Amino acid sequence: MPALLVSKSPPLSGEVTIHGAKNSVLPILAATLLCRAPCVLHNCPDILDVTHTRAILHSLGCASERRGASVYIDPRSCAGHSIPPELAASMRASSLFLGALLARQGEASLSLPGGCPIGARPVDYHLLAFRALGAEVTETDDTIHCRARRLTGAKITLPGPSVGATENAMLAAVGAEGVTVIENAACEPEIVDLAGFLTACGAKIAGAGTGRVTVKGGQPLTGATYTILPDRIETATFLCACAACGGTLTLRRTAPRLAEPILNLLTESGCRFSCTHDTIQISRDGPLIACRPVISKPYPGFPTDAMPVLLASQLRAEGQTDFTETIFENRFGYARELKKLGAQLRQDENTVYLRGAPQLYAAQLFAEDLRGGAALVLAAMQAEGESTIFGVKHIQRGYDNLEAALQSAGARLKTVEIPIKV
Ligand code: EPZ
Repeated sequence: MPALLVSKSPPLSGEVTIHGAKNSVLPILAATLLCRAPCVLHNCPDILDVTHTRAILHSLGCASERRGASVYIDPRSCAGHSIPPELAASMRASSLFLGALLARQGEASLSLPGGCPIGARPVDYHLLAFRALGAEVTETDDTIHCRARRLTGAKITLPGPSVGATENAMLAAVGAEGVTVIENAACEPEIVDLAGFLTACGAKIAGAGTGRVTVKGGQPLTGATYTILPDRIETATFLCACAACGGTLTLRRTAPRLAEPILNLLTESGCRFSCTHDTIQISRDGPLIACRPVISKPYPGFPTDAMPVLLASQLRAEGQTDFTETIFENRFGYARELKKLGAQLRQDENTVYLRGAPQLYAAQLFAEDLRGGAALVLAAMQAEGESTIFGVKHIQRGYDNLEAALQSAGARLKTVEIPIKV
């Protein structure tokens, strides 16, 4: 079984390159089903979720090829409408094929999607959107089936700002005759990127990034060549790694404007920054002061996905702080693991209260989800001794070679194969 061995890191140095955003490339790959011509996506991260999404495209009859950081997709031979269960279960983003297949084929079947076990993660908002557009949706214990002879533009009011439901509604609305208005839409930058790709293919979309998105659908889409926006959560991960270990690290091909929430917090914590339009240099050579209390919120609030790595960066900060999670009800699995390292924290419902510990000590840790796994790596980089982290697959789902990037910055970690005792 693969595991990461992580020892205490010296102050970090050098530079790392940020990849395209996982949560942008996944909906855009699904969106290629709406295209009647080949597409080229540049800045595609080489991560498990992209591999699985391409496998879904192949299972539907599409072709795709990776050439370095670019993925070439030919959706013209798309014939299916059902997602293989083992692929559907591999990640949450498989749910995004429902909207795309409804628009392309008029039918879609999906066993319940997988993804990080950070909450119940229902898809009721998604199904509400499809029904509003005229689809017939049936659910069994483990399968969702949608069918629509034709989709008609409608007003969709989402009960809450859901990223995936907003994206699925946009995808289905592109295939609906007439105008669709999505109220209470989520505003994340990845939604804006999806709208950018669809617009490049000829879709008529306005308001992406606001709470009200309008789609004028019913026209077939061409293909497009598109560059995925930088990953703001991968950016936060490396910034928090340097905040935790000290040193000076330069992040290239990132987007400082998308990292503002984390930049502000780490500035207060004692880090210094120098930014250009696509680079961030972080330095920390003095003490790390506990940041102010953090509450995760839908964009433009503090991103829930950056909370685990920020909390990990604060484990030895001077003072105390607290972290409140408002998006997912089971996001703190990693926090319980951090206590094995000697982290001084306690959880009360959806808040973790953290007091900086003078020292952390190596332990055996188990990653249960993607961002929690990254937090365990950053925590182990601060602990005396050599920690072992299992559940590496979770990290590989969303980070393009995190290990090599951290090694290049001076961190001491490596993946090993640990024999399973039978
Ligand atoms: C997306 O998940 C991201 N995943 C998540 O990133 C991210 O944490 C989340 O948005 C919030 O920003 C991808 O984009 C692939 P939601 P999603 O729908 O779309 C509730 C990562 O680590 N809800 O915005 O699943 C839901 O339970 C992952 O990269 C319903 O109740 O999140 C949650 O409490 C983790 N019914 C809240 O809304 C629905 O039909 C927000 O979820 C849909 C959502």
